[in-house]
Amino acid sequence: MYNQALRGQKELVLCEDGTNTLFSKEFNEAYHSTKDGALHESLEKHVKPAFLVKKGEDSLTILDICFGLGYNTFTTLYYIQQNQLNTKVHILSPEFDKELIASLATFDYPSQFDNIKHIIKDISKNFYYEDEQFKIEILVGDARDTVPKIKEKIDIVYQDAFSPNQNPLLWTREFFDDIVKVSKKDTLLTTYSISASTRLGLYENGFKLYFNKSDGIRTALIASQKELDFFEFIDMELKKKRNPTARSLRDIDYLI
Ligand SMILES: C[S@@+](CC[C@H](N)C(=O)[O-])C[C@H]1O[C@@H](n2cnc3c(N)ncnc32)[C@H](O)[C@@H]1O
Repeated sequence: MYNQALRGQKELVLCEDGTNTLFSKEFNEAYHSTKDGALHESLEKHVKPAFLVKKGEDSLTILDICFGLGYNTFTTLYYIQQNQLNTKVHILSPEFDKELIASLATFDYPSQFDNIKHIIKDISKNFYYEDEQFKIEILVGDARDTVPKIKEKIDIVYQDAFSPNQNPLLWTREFFDDIVKVSKKDTLLTTYSISASTRLGLYENGFKLYFNKSDGIRTALIASQKELDFFEFIDMELKKKRNPTARSLRDIDYLI
């Protein structure tokens, strides 16, 4: 579990794809897989699979858990610009580290984000950005409080919290239930965690599960409320038979 007293303590780390991330002393974990790379991981584990499934939609509402350095949000904008898409995107992103957001205007991002520097600056200053195509809102506070209050219906969830070991309350069956309640019937969730507890928590909330085996990343997970053709299906009933003691994480084990 994390140590809030260490919130301000972070170290800059260079990832193998040449992009920068941070190491959090509070959570004793890096914000990204340094091997997969911050930008590369964001593109391959979250943005590309989500936009493959939701191709052709006029507008998308995305829940980006949690904002951190904002790579998932900024990579989404970069992907849309690169592919000249007209999709309108509304991104809602919980984050309780206000000082981190305020510091992002001077963070050393990759050159791929040069075109959106004005957006990064606005978010860092106002925790908000809006133009004709993009609306980005940081939901300041604890995700367990802010997510259930979301009024919009979510199309895509990027689940990119610190790991289930370090931040279990963002991976419980109950938190996934909160996510489903604010989501559309065909919502899609992308995450790097393939652990049995993550898979069970999502499966118990009606998600069908698929492996995402993209270029140059460790295997990741796609969870969808609707059946998908694009990815390798995971037979959870078979997995449960093979591993009968596996269990989803539950709030009751972590709430004091
Ligand atoms: C792994 S980082 C997210 C990385 C981010 N997706 C990116 O691409 O840069 C996790 C973030 O979650 C935030 N966080 C952890 N627990 C939280 C909670 N309960 N509510 C809101 N934010 C939380 C941390 O402050 C940290 O910035």
